[in-house]
Amino acid sequence: MALNVIILAAGKGTRMRSTTAKVLHTVAGQSLIEHVLQTAYALNPTQLLVVHGNDAREIKEQCAAYPIEWVLQAEQCGTGHAVQQALPKIKAADNSQVLILYADVPLLSSNTLSGLQGQLAEADLALLTMQVNDPTGYGRIVRDADSSVQAIIEERDADSATQQIKEVNTGIMVARLGALREGLALLNNDNAQAEFYLTDCVAAIKQQAKKITAISCPAEEAQGVNSRAQLAMVEVHYQTRQRQQLLDSGISMSDPATVYLQGEINIEADVSIGPCVELIGPLSIAAGTHIASHTVISNSRIGQNTKIHSFCHIEDATIGDRCELGPYARIRPQTELASDVKIGNFVETKKASIASGTKVNHLSYVGDAQIGVNTNIGAGTICCNYDGANKHQTIIGDNVFIGSDTQLVAPVEIENGATIAAGSTITKKVPADSLALSRAKQMIINAWQRPKKSK
Ligand code: UD1
Ligand code: CA
Repeated sequence: MALNVIILAAGKGTRMRSTTAKVLHTVAGQSLIEHVLQTAYALNPTQLLVVHGNDAREIKEQCAAYPIEWVLQAEQCGTGHAVQQALPKIKAADNSQVLILYADVPLLSSNTLSGLQGQLAEADLALLTMQVNDPTGYGRIVRDADSSVQAIIEERDADSATQQIKEVNTGIMVARLGALREGLALLNNDNAQAEFYLTDCVAAIKQQAKKITAISCPAEEAQGVNSRAQLAMVEVHYQTRQRQQLLDSGISMSDPATVYLQGEINIEADVSIGPCVELIGPLSIAAGTHIASHTVISNSRIGQNTKIHSFCHIEDATIGDRCELGPYARIRPQTELASDVKIGNFVETKKASIASGTKVNHLSYVGDAQIGVNTNIGAGTICCNYDGANKHQTIIGDNVFIGSDTQLVAPVEIENGATIAAGSTITKKVPADSLALSRAKQMIINAWQRPKKSK
């Protein structure tokens, strides 16, 4: 059965107190409207329309990657009016399905929505409702004696008895196109807000002797965003849900509430994550790896049984199996570590490919470099890759030993098995199995008198 989706996004979002359109505010780094678009596309709609207000340039730019039919609602005369603008654009049979979503309700699952669609097997309109402790601000679901849905009454139009009702409208509904068209044709704006309410379609369709049903979903899923506080709540719900999925799939977290997740994250079972860790996808982490506290990892692949100690920062990198990083390692873009590599404290790497068994244990900068297997890079070694205008490569072979406090002035090559004495400044190629040293000869002046302070 053909499905068409209408997403309402024309509201002004005044309560956000922001110069950014409400639906471009983000949850887990992704705009509210994109969360909704992804859920909607997962249902394979034939047509997907987004109703927007004036001034939607930024929204359209941000959503340029999605095949959206944009519909202008020049004046915001209510949710019913918004749907009225979109409905004539739907080219489908009267018995096809129309699903209405709000761009400011980002956490609905496609499961819940296909469940709602299923309701149309026996009804012309199906509502998604939820039970809340505090119904303030929501439309109340009014049911009659046999508990079938009669109407939705907006808070401002509700008498005090109706205001007590705790089953409320999520705003989400699915209907047969024909029934929805008939319902919309009957709307008026004779209400407290002088708006055309989509919610009035329910009573209107009911009067046509058509059948209406409702199913409910957990309140966390249908939480809408009208204010910054609600945006923060939605973020908490999203994070809780993602963490729960990881915990269920065999990942341990010593303090789940402090682990922040964003984007697509693939973690194998038996990975353990310490407190205050931020993981930003796309990201994959293989089995047995441990990520200690205060580490941030984004857009990277991490192998098996690797240990990442506290306070590491890893970005756009590939890390092999059984590596050990940090604490306090900064792994910058295009770092590629093979297996069994050790990167110690206060080491920075960038555009560096480091082969297996190699160690860079302390206080070094390895940028624009390639290092072979089983090489040891001493403390304080610097790849001097930048001449003030261009970047140059440092190539280091296998089984090289580089003494502490060495500067490798690129472009330069150190061949297999070479040794560099501590404190050297290397500017020329070092041949295989040789020793290079470039320090000044030591001088001793005996019985040295230090200068004394003049009175
Ligand atoms: C609406 C529902 C209410 C429900 C609540 C759930 C109506 C009349 N009320 O109220 O029953 O409990 O959502 O969150 O439908 N929009 C437009 N054009 C307009 C007005 C709104 O596109 O002219 C869009 C907004 O961008 C938003 C959505 O419709 O995405 C809901 O609008 P909003 O003003 O937030 O409705 P509520 O008062 O929250
Ligand atoms: Ca709302």
